[in-house]
Amino acid sequence: MAKKAVSRRTLFRAGLWGASGLAGISALARVSGLSAGRDSAPPLAGPFPQGGHGVHGSGDGAVGEVDTSLFDPMQYLYHFDYGQVSTLDNGQTLREWTINAINRDVEIAPGVYFPAWTYDGQVPGRTFRATEGDRLRFHFGNGSSHPHTIHFHGIHPPGMDGILPIVNPGENFTYEFDAQPFGLHLYHCHVMPLKRHIHKGLYGVFIVDPPGGRPPAREMVMVMNAFDTNFDGENEVYAVNTVAFHYSKHPIKVKVGELIRVYLMNITEFDPINSFHLHASMYRLFRTGTRLEHDEYTDMVMMCQGERHILEFTLDYPGHYMFHAHQSEFAELGWVGMFEAEV
Ligand code: CU
Ligand code: CU
Repeated sequence: MAKKAVSRRTLFRAGLWGASGLAGISALARVSGLSAGRDSAPPLAGPFPQGGHGVHGSGDGAVGEVDTSLFDPMQYLYHFDYGQVSTLDNGQTLREWTINAINRDVEIAPGVYFPAWTYDGQVPGRTFRATEGDRLRFHFGNGSSHPHTIHFHGIHPPGMDGILPIVNPGENFTYEFDAQPFGLHLYHCHVMPLKRHIHKGLYGVFIVDPPGGRPPAREMVMVMNAFDTNFDGENEVYAVNTVAFHYSKHPIKVKVGELIRVYLMNITEFDPINSFHLHASMYRLFRTGTRLEHDEYTDMVMMCQGERHILEFTLDYPGHYMFHAHQSEFAELGWVGMFEAEV
């Protein structure tokens, strides 16, 4: 069984980087969930794009394009949802959101669909954002076919922690608590079996800003995730923000010298760790984002599931800067991207 799983992973990798990219992807889609598989030679091309960026074809990641009308990784990158804002009698800012759990197939590579469980139809769910001290109210409805909850990281009463009550299909529950402490947090379903509920796609990022905010920057959210497409307890596709190779095929455009702030979270299931390596620059690392002073100056961080850090850096020369998991296998299976710095 293990041998077959490796074969399928190799097939996907060979398909992505080899000359027969389209055939490889189609083959993966066909064998997905089946026991069929074949040994294939290691890819001849290197693990990273060899061709020009934005040129679709062999050597440039997965061949073809995902349908970005349903989920656009570039929009997700920059989208912060501050909720519906009002003021309580005591002067406290109230932020409210409505969230629905629904089942949906999500496209994780061109033509490769994953039968996800989602918050509002997207994986990851929306990025919720508030300022420390705000009152938060999340109206959760379960429109899916399985019981779910929303468990937020952070400080709050145990009854608002998303363990109990379990919200069954057709039921609702409202989570209400104050935003604390400031930092980079996450939310995810907490129904057993937990690895199943998380892996299926029920997770997202939850940012609590410090009262005075952070210095102005180009801000973006990156969630390191992965997908077990044949449900053998092993991932076949890796990404940041769900779509394999997306930011490699569509580099993230930035300005030379501008401050870039990445809210980075790891939710990868099945593999004990993931990591983030930036080429040709170094970043200041704010662990969990709970302090205003950085903890480290590095180009490489290793993260367990649920760990999240803020990364701040500048790119000082024009050109393309690669970033990827420093588990080479993850990079080869989709977790690689590019910044394009312009003057
Ligand atoms: Cu769940
Ligand atoms: Cu958690």
